Amino acid sequence: MKQSDCFSCHSVDQKMVGPAYAWVAYKYKGQKDADVKLAQKIKAGGAGNWNALTGGVPMPPHPQLTDAQAKAMADWVLKQKPVEPPKA
Ligand code: HEC
Repeated sequence: MKQSDCFSCHSVDQKMVGPAYAWVAYKYKGQKDADVKLAQKIKAGGAGNWNALTGGVPMPPHPQLTDAQAKAMADWVLKQKPVEPPKA
């Protein structure tokens, strides 16, 4: 993820352009296919899940990533210590 652009829009515990990874971990905690879903979102991009906090800015697609890379990134995000996102 350091070689990609992830950390220019995300930090682990603070809002940047995108949601903090700790909030993402909180939101999907205990959801069965969260890793698959997030891996798809990392590759394809998308919007709408964090509008209240991002103001509707979309997550850009990353088509250059392999499925294995996207999955590893999703797993890493889901492993962060979950923190409840602030109410926007
Ligand atoms: C240009 C800024 C930008 C970059 C670069 C970026 N993101 Fe995001 N990301 C966002 C925004 C904005 C959202 C919120 C999208 C939404 O509202 O659904 C987001 C959402 C996410 C989510 C949560 C998805 C969901 O549906 O809840 C994950 C996981 C994520 N990004 C991972 C990554 C990873 C991994 C990378 C690097 C490969 C990356 N992001 C690069 C802006 C960015």
